[in-house]
Amino acid sequence: MVFGDLRGWIDHLRKEGELQEIDVEVDWNCELGTVARKAFGTGNGPALLFNNIKGYGEKARCSRVFTGGLSRYSRVAMMFGLPKSASITELVKAARTAYAGRVAPKIVDDGPVKEVVLTGDAIDLLEFPVPKWHREDGGRYINTLQGTVTMDPDTGRLNVGVYRGMVGQKNTIPSLLWRAQNWGGDFAKWVDRDQDMPVACVLGWEPCLPFCAASPLPPDVSEFEVMGALRGAPVELVRCETVPLLVPASAEVVIEGYISNDPKTFEMEGPFGEYTGYFGGDQGPKHTIRVTAITHRKRPILRGTLEGTLPKMLNENSIMSSVQRAALAWNVLERAGVPGITDVHCPAANNGTTLIIQMRQRYRGQAKQAAMAIWGSSASHLRYKHVWVVDEDIDVHDYAALDWAFAYRVNAAEDDIIFVPGTFGSALDPSTRLPLRDTLTYGTGKWCRVLIDATVNMDFAPEAQYDGNRYPPTVKPHPQDWDLVTRRWKEYGFKD
Ligand SMILES: Cc1cc2nc3c(=O)[nH]c(=O)nc-3n(C[C@H](O)[C@H](O)[C@H](O)COP(=O)(O)O)c2cc1C
Repeated sequence: MVFGDLRGWIDHLRKEGELQEIDVEVDWNCELGTVARKAFGTGNGPALLFNNIKGYGEKARCSRVFTGGLSRYSRVAMMFGLPKSASITELVKAARTAYAGRVAPKIVDDGPVKEVVLTGDAIDLLEFPVPKWHREDGGRYINTLQGTVTMDPDTGRLNVGVYRGMVGQKNTIPSLLWRAQNWGGDFAKWVDRDQDMPVACVLGWEPCLPFCAASPLPPDVSEFEVMGALRGAPVELVRCETVPLLVPASAEVVIEGYISNDPKTFEMEGPFGEYTGYFGGDQGPKHTIRVTAITHRKRPILRGTLEGTLPKMLNENSIMSSVQRAALAWNVLERAGVPGITDVHCPAANNGTTLIIQMRQRYRGQAKQAAMAIWGSSASHLRYKHVWVVDEDIDVHDYAALDWAFAYRVNAAEDDIIFVPGTFGSALDPSTRLPLRDTLTYGTGKWCRVLIDATVNMDFAPEAQYDGNRYPPTVKPHPQDWDLVTRRWKEYGFKD
């Protein structure tokens, strides 16, 4: 679907009854984030447009904040142009198709994002109503659902990623820059050249921007090409003012700048309420964007999001992740040649930390092949710590079914639980000891990954007494018995 810009997306949401506009005054300091937390609910709340933010009246450079565009599956479906009732598996299949597609962007000379250009002393990030989302956050986080554009200096490939960043001074954004992320790969190449890395943070465009920017696509892929495939039309890009990068011409706000590897330029950042549900990325000196320009539309709308997921407290990242991480894993499995995959699911509450694969087994060791393929891919950085594999009769969206398979198809003495220690992991996961989460020293976190193979064990011999199956029959009634009893149900005296 082509929406044109953030405003086109907001209009569409309004028409579809998916938007709540908040016109009473709301404080950027903790109140806005708490409203978002309550409104996001269990993943069933509306998108939110805050029109009246304390201290940012009509005369302010920016007076509106939009959040929650993708905090409900119905709106992820709308982004894909699917019916709002589409199932999670249908959304995952749509994302798989988009990720496999490429539509090259189109470079244009000008666009609304150039309506206002600020450089030098005119730059002041706090002229924007940047929320302090949680009381314990280390500051006001401006980069929460932006797309940060960087370039591979060897190939010119433009990467777009969501990487958190806090307002430091009026022209600085200390950020979480991990070497195992794609902008981290780009950064290493700029450092090798002894040059600062140019960046451009795009805040507010069509929903495919944050969706693709938060997707761990392979390092050689430009998210702009995948956005083109997702929306079915090229993304129109304009050149930045002070960095050699390109950004969507109709974006709301673009922040341009450079990041140095000199520790003297690092500023304090963190902690931040994170996707794990805990505060993470503790306060410490971090790589810092030195802002060289801000360009924006007239009356810009700031795009941001409330991070942090807990059971029954879902948000944009968790809803998006459950689609993105399942789709990417499925594509990885297909590319690696693992046969028989019938469904893949990431429960929203853990943002893709747990991956559930449903497969039709054809030979022994297939579940292990699947887990190794997943863990060998760059998509598994920060995610897929625990991989479950189940047979086709287990509904991956039904935790009771998974629990039953875990109870009776898993036997640790039969190699059904496999540990892979010492892998890259998430530096935000508090189950990893604090010193091992130090990314300035190690580049990333550290995990022992676990496979739970909850499929029927193919090492068991088919048994004649089980009609040639490896497991006995279940207690599910035979269809002829079930049909008979269903027909006679009322005769037995039952009402329904
Ligand atoms: C709300 C939100 C915040 C995120 N914050 C960070 C972050 O601070 N650092 C990071 O490396 N990844 C963060 N991510 C995850 C990345 O966006 C994701 O891993 C993505 O694949 C990065 O792009 P890349 O694969 O091109 O590096 C965040 C994602 C979301 C949705």
